[in-house]
Amino acid sequence: MNTDLFEIIRTTRSMRRLKPDPVPAPLIRQVLEAGTSAANGGNMQTWRFLVIRDPAIKANVAQWYRRGWHEVVGPRYRAGAPAPGSSRDRFDRMLAAAEHLADHLHEAPVWIVPCLQGGTHTRTSGSSIYPAVQNMLLAARALGLGATLTTLYLLFEKEAEAALGLPDDTHSYAILPIGYPVGKFGPVARTALEDVVFTDRWGEKWSDI
Ligand SMILES: Cc1cc2nc3c(=O)[nH]c(=O)nc-3n(C[C@H](O)[C@H](O)[C@H](O)COP(=O)(O)O)c2cc1C
Repeated sequence: MNTDLFEIIRTTRSMRRLKPDPVPAPLIRQVLEAGTSAANGGNMQTWRFLVIRDPAIKANVAQWYRRGWHEVVGPRYRAGAPAPGSSRDRFDRMLAAAEHLADHLHEAPVWIVPCLQGGTHTRTSGSSIYPAVQNMLLAARALGLGATLTTLYLLFEKEAEAALGLPDDTHSYAILPIGYPVGKFGPVARTALEDVVFTDRWGEKWSDI
């Protein structure tokens, strides 16, 4: 297990190609414990986590993800410009991995589906579940497990949540497919701080000197 927090943060990439090998239950428990250690509004902990290993449920939900990718998201990304700082070639490799995930999501040995129960689901609702999601991604990475934060199945929210069997007062905020990665963990690719951080006033160049 890797315990260097900053190294883990720098290398928690989306790992979209996963081996079918089963993931031991104690590791999933550790990931979930990291999730429920996260900040959340008023510590109300209205989060609920659905751990899915059942192949039939995964297959049923994954069809909506696949449709979302092939009909909407894939064509949109392919027609657009590469991500900032990414070459066409690198971006195309990311899209190939994303397409692989779309076609193989159901084969990931385990999914964690973070949900919020009750209340009204507003624009800010996610702030009480995504810290838990990020903690789980970091914990998975530390344990040598690959994962990806996915939301594109929400293009078919009603159908996918029915397939997930969620109660009416509960909504999902992501599907995290988890498994042992085929590739190696590596550094994330992001634009330089100087391009995204300002000092005091919007647009004023940032400097930490
Ligand atoms: C809100 C959100 C939704 C995302 N949804 C998806 C998704 O549905 N499918 C997918 O393959 N990746 C998804 N991602 C992963 C991003 O594409 C990924 O984080 C980004 O390309 C940077 O790559 P990296 O995580 O490998 O550094 C999502 C990320 C976020 C934060």
